[in-house]
Amino acid sequence: MVRIGVLVSGRGSNLQAIIDSIKEGKLEAEIGLVISDNRNATALERCRKAGVDHTVIERRSFSSKADFERSLADSLKGRGTQLVVLAGFMRILGPDFLSSFPQRVINIHPSLIPAFQGLEAQKQAVEFGAKVSGCTVHIVDESVDAGPVIIQAVVPVKPEDTPETLSDRILSYEHRILPQTIQWFSEGRVQVEGRKVVVKGAKYGTLPVNPALEKF
Ligand code: GAR
Repeated sequence: MVRIGVLVSGRGSNLQAIIDSIKEGKLEAEIGLVISDNRNATALERCRKAGVDHTVIERRSFSSKADFERSLADSLKGRGTQLVVLAGFMRILGPDFLSSFPQRVINIHPSLIPAFQGLEAQKQAVEFGAKVSGCTVHIVDESVDAGPVIIQAVVPVKPEDTPETLSDRILSYEHRILPQTIQWFSEGRVQVEGRKVVVKGAKYGTLPVNPALEKF
């Protein structure tokens, strides 16, 4: 069992996937706290419905980024957080936060990094004319959307795709690879050596998801 803290900024569909996977008994994790940096996030409504503890910590309440990050870290530590999950959290975290949870902050990004980092990754893929894209769960370091990769899922990009249709196709895999990754942490199977992450006992060499999904 791993105790997680989840940071969100908006819709919260990845948070919902985590909540549902726990409820279905597939994911052995407990959500200690959800923090939103946006008081209007739909994710907060999902927390209320599911009875998950949540709070709002907004950047504008602090004079410096360091103070904001310290508040986030203190709140998460206060709930015994072992793993921090960025699930649609649209801010870049700096060393003040990351040093509180070394190699224990993960992020979901809607592209096959290092392609299409930053905002509107799905729109970038469509406009670039890429023929495949996907999503990645990675360890967060001080780079932006470029930390060590844990798992990636590949989806096709079709000629008729819009950013919205591609986003939907990618999202269906986001909702599987993020809970799967948390489960691997819960089982103590994630080994990070420099840029290389290996999930002990996982089946590699399968597509569209590498390493292969297990229960998700
Ligand atoms: C997801 O597509 C996630 O991959 C993306 O924001 C969306 C949040 O959706 N994150 C990033 O682009 C981070 N760079 P959700 O709020 O419904 O989970």
